[in-house]
Amino acid sequence: MGNSPGFLLSLTLSFFIFIGQAHCNKQGKALGDLYKAKLRTNSIVDTSPFKVTPDVQILNKIQHQNQNRKQHSKIMQDGWQEKDRIQSLPGQPRVNFSQYGGYITVDKSAGRAFYYYFVEAEHSKESLPLLLWLNGGPGCSSLAYGALQELGPFRVHSDGKTLFKNKYSWNKVANVLFVESPAGVGFSYSNRTSDYDKSGDRITAGDNYVFMMGNAVVNDKTDYRGMYDYRGSHALISPENLRRIRRNCKFLPNVNDSNVCIAATKRADAEVNDIDVYNIYGPLCFNQTLTPKPRRSSVINFDPCSDYYVHVYLNRPEVQEAMHANTTKLTHDWQSCSNLLNWNDSPSTIIPLLQEFMAKGLRVWLFSGDTDGVVPVTSTQYSIHSMRLPIKRVWQPWYKRREVGGYTQVYKGDLTFATVRGAGHQVPTYQPARALSLISHFLAGTPLAN
Ligand SMILES: *[C@@H]1O[C@H](CO)[C@@H](O)[C@H](O)[C@H]1NC(C)=O
Ligand SMILES: *[C@@H]1O[C@H](CO)[C@@H](O)[C@H](O)[C@H]1NC(C)=O
Ligand SMILES: *[C@@H]1O[C@H](CO)[C@@H](O)[C@H](O)[C@H]1NC(C)=O
Ligand SMILES: *[C@@H]1O[C@H](CO)[C@@H](O)[C@H](O)[C@H]1NC(C)=O
Ligand SMILES: *[C@@H]1O[C@H](CO)[C@@H](O)[C@H](O)[C@H]1NC(C)=O
Repeated sequence: MGNSPGFLLSLTLSFFIFIGQAHCNKQGKALGDLYKAKLRTNSIVDTSPFKVTPDVQILNKIQHQNQNRKQHSKIMQDGWQEKDRIQSLPGQPRVNFSQYGGYITVDKSAGRAFYYYFVEAEHSKESLPLLLWLNGGPGCSSLAYGALQELGPFRVHSDGKTLFKNKYSWNKVANVLFVESPAGVGFSYSNRTSDYDKSGDRITAGDNYVFMMGNAVVNDKTDYRGMYDYRGSHALISPENLRRIRRNCKFLPNVNDSNVCIAATKRADAEVNDIDVYNIYGPLCFNQTLTPKPRRSSVINFDPCSDYYVHVYLNRPEVQEAMHANTTKLTHDWQSCSNLLNWNDSPSTIIPLLQEFMAKGLRVWLFSGDTDGVVPVTSTQYSIHSMRLPIKRVWQPWYKRREVGGYTQVYKGDLTFATVRGAGHQVPTYQPARALSLISHFLAGTPLAN
């Protein structure tokens, strides 16, 4: 980064979160439920450009803490207090960097607190930037996904007890802050449980931020069209259903699509039931049972049952104690995706937000794993196309170890679009080396390697 101190905000999926009633234990399923709910009952979709972003509370809080400080490293010294230092996570291998975990009160009167987990960079922590990671989901935990299955320093073994190292962890190039938000997600809570369904805040995009989002829900209309086009062009749904959808579905906010459209989407959705549509060529998890001894694991070959290992690990009392989590003895289990939240507020587009960021001169990157069949490359491309930005640097491959890591196109106004080849919805999960290369370039402000 060099020049400005401060923050890198990274969001995966959408940070405009919405959840139906469905009980989910998979980030993917949560998003699927969102899509279905949006599609079937348009009446609950909020059309205000962007309104409710509970995650933003944490940003504002951190920004507030940062206001009078010159260096983000100061926050680490002052803000993350020594009492939050994690001596060691149960079952973790030896490492050289410090970890912190604890609560940040975001609303005193309501008793609302967000849980954070912070890992310092492996080296040069003073000069490396701070990266804030928020999972979307909707309502999914940044510990479950970001920290323990995507870009964090550890992954959980199949015994649900021990950890192994992720050598592509993003704390090679940044200090990484994971926040479980909003209240009701993961270890974050509110003592006033009625908070779980309402909140309002506007993002205050400071000059310190650069902004990155992966496989993100951007704009309903183009997202849905792109999703079905992708599934059709990847031989997952029948050409007839695709044709019916293209002909009959409008995917407009606050307009119910016709019954013909809805029937066609239902049939098309059923056609992908038996694959992991978030990683269309990937394996499924058939046996959720933990093993007494860790199975041989690899960061490169992601174990599709990892969700279950993480669930067991984070529900262990000794793990919660070590992490300074669940200090108030919440009455519910830790869940990878919350079933407590019941918000009915999800904007149909975040394009105005992106435009605002760009107008303020923020560097904006959107990346997309090219084997994600839910928020696919096509969706993001259609959404970007709808912004009518002039092209600054034409479509071209970028490389990692002489292989094509993906493709990239840069737009004026400073928006970079990058695909990651062979990656599903959670990009660092499926392509850890390429994802690390991507984030390194993003943080350094350099174009992807050509
Ligand atoms: C859309 O359909 C739902 C029921 O499925 C109904 O409650 C709602 O009022 C309809 N919205 C519009 C805008 O017609
Ligand atoms: C920790 O740092 C020391 C000295 O910098 C280095 O020799 C050692 O290999 C590191 N250990 C690990 C586990 O990274
Ligand atoms: C929530 O309530 C518990 C129990 O009264 C209390 O210990 C805790 O500090 C409260 N949380 C916040 C953020 O005020
Ligand atoms: C699931 O895995 C467990 C532990 O490895 C094993 O004991 C069990 O037989 C497996 N179940 C099935 C149905 O394969
Ligand atoms: C918090 O701790 C209580 C008591 O140990 C436990 O029953 C509950 O599942 C935990 N909840 C979370 C969210 O970790």
